[in-house]
Amino acid sequence: MARDGAVYVCQTCGAVQSKWAGQCPACSAWNSLVEEVQSRPPGALAPTKATKSRGLSFQGLEDEVVAPPRIATGIDEFDRVCGGGIVPGSAILLGGDPGVGKSTLLLQVVASAARLGASCAYISGEEAIEQVRGRAQRMGLADAPVRLATETSLRDILDSLKRERFDLVIIDSIQTMWSDAHEAAPGSVTQVRAAAGELVRLAKKQGVAVILVGHVTKEGTIAGPRVIEHMVDAVLSFEGERGYPFRVLRGAKNRFGATDEIGVFEMGDSGLAEVRNPSALFLDTKGERAAGAAVFAGIEGSRPVLVEFQALVAPSAYGTPRRAVVGWDSGRLAMVLAVLEARCGLGLGNRDVYLNVAGGLRITEPAADLAAAAALASSALDVALPQDCVVFGEISLSGDVRPVGRSETRLKEAAKLGFRRAFAPADPDGAPLRITNVTRLGDAIRRIGEGDWD
Ligand code: TYD
Ligand code: MG
Repeated sequence: MARDGAVYVCQTCGAVQSKWAGQCPACSAWNSLVEEVQSRPPGALAPTKATKSRGLSFQGLEDEVVAPPRIATGIDEFDRVCGGGIVPGSAILLGGDPGVGKSTLLLQVVASAARLGASCAYISGEEAIEQVRGRAQRMGLADAPVRLATETSLRDILDSLKRERFDLVIIDSIQTMWSDAHEAAPGSVTQVRAAAGELVRLAKKQGVAVILVGHVTKEGTIAGPRVIEHMVDAVLSFEGERGYPFRVLRGAKNRFGATDEIGVFEMGDSGLAEVRNPSALFLDTKGERAAGAAVFAGIEGSRPVLVEFQALVAPSAYGTPRRAVVGWDSGRLAMVLAVLEARCGLGLGNRDVYLNVAGGLRITEPAADLAAAAALASSALDVALPQDCVVFGEISLSGDVRPVGRSETRLKEAAKLGFRRAFAPADPDGAPLRITNVTRLGDAIRRIGEGDWD
């Protein structure tokens, strides 16, 4: 039997149970229920005084829209993902794996914003002042007028922020903050929820923009994800493939902007450098293109990005062939393999298949289907695609290659980077490069095998 006021909170989904169980009844996670003592039973409303309510003043939809003002941080790759700068009084959650560079990015963001005149504070609950200061000095940010503090007590932070008014405050990280109103351990769902709730309230009330850092757990979710994601105005994630210097900032939710924008950075000795032209970066332009490589002309947010898909099809040493994919969806790979086998007679069922998006970028566009298929066919048939060719197009289960959006932007970017031809379901009229128009995957595979590009 639970102690008085004790409940069991699932650390994965945040569901509250009155009894302990080995498996969470809400999300089926195992061993995720942790006892927490609540000051008030869950779901109970705070006692309210009987006050007279005011009627709502309803408004029409046609009135003028006033765009929210923005704090430009001066780091364009960051501002663009936020929707053109940070909205004052908004709350942003920045999630990412430990060590991906969240603290580095935000230190650069506050330093840059402070230099542009915003009053900024950086509150670290994870590192000592010396560590943060040392990093700032190494990155050449020591002269920026950022107010630095280390603190994990939510009460002290809230008190200070009520006394001193800032434009932008970084809380690094939300998992280290604890509120003395709750007995639960720091990092637990109860504490994360309480701390985020208080900080978001303060943001709205004082008009301070607050960025909360959240570490992603190994399951790929931000601890207490559902409970804080709905509280904040924007959820950004910072991603990077281990071993690559590139980092991508993505918007997962944004009340003040689009969510398909990405910001690209490169981690170096003096912090993160903005990558303004990602196309050139993810592409290996030197040397001959080997069999198994295809350059995909993609779109990320508002920008075209060219990346190389690399495939290796090899005899399988085991009964069950391996399927390994980095930077693309494995379900999508299975679909493309099935279409290659069923519609084009290119059976790879008993061979190992490796597919890699070069540079560490993660591609989610269906337009990449044809590039993946071309890379796979090129490796399986051992025929290299022409060096100066880009590929894009969506593949349907029937084996059709379907046109995709924003072809013109893709082609223009490819032409700008020196590509002379495209292998795509596109109209050759007026295109800036030579187009081999493909509408059937079978025809595309035949052309790759025969080197027929006209
Ligand atoms: P950090 O910002 O501490 O990550 P997070 O806050 O997401 O946990 O980044 C840590 C990594 O970044 C660490 O492995 C070292 C690397 N790094 C550089 O390569 N160059 C630099 O200038 C800095 C500051 C960090
Ligand atoms: Mg950190």
